[in-house]
Amino acid sequence: MSVMPILLYPDPVLRVRCPEVTVFDDGLRKLAADMVETMHAAVGVGLAASQVGVETRLAVIDVSVGEEEDDALVLVNPVIDDPKGDERDVEGCLSIPEFTEKVDRPTEIRVRAQDLEGAPFELVAEGLLARVICHEVDHLDGVLFVDHLRGLRREKAKRHLRRMREEAIA
Ligand code: NI
Repeated sequence: MSVMPILLYPDPVLRVRCPEVTVFDDGLRKLAADMVETMHAAVGVGLAASQVGVETRLAVIDVSVGEEEDDALVLVNPVIDDPKGDERDVEGCLSIPEFTEKVDRPTEIRVRAQDLEGAPFELVAEGLLARVICHEVDHLDGVLFVDHLRGLRREKAKRHLRRMREEAIA
């Protein structure tokens, strides 16, 4: 396994709507293992393939932040159904360091996905897990959490993103 570099805003790959995984091979399993290691090394709770430069619908999630090493949830081609409730809570993103803001997300969702062998499964997620899944599925559609912000919180985000764009050019 190896730790991969995480792409930072404004890398254009972060804005790609990723195509579905169609081949469930050792390459996919190696990518998922590397992504789990990368997420744990970065002390993140979730990571989407596009964040490591791979345009495919794969995300890894571990709301224990690596405390339970085998606990990572791997979602291939995830689809969110049946969102319920609404809760505003703090989010951040490994691709947008040093910025957090409160985002509205459903409190409960149903997720349909495939595992690394291609077998379909479903799960119901609540609270933080639901929030992280929504955040990662957004990534697979080229959407960043800051896109959900409005008003004053959006202005704060815009200032931070402008600084990141300037640093990327410098
Ligand atoms: Ni993120």
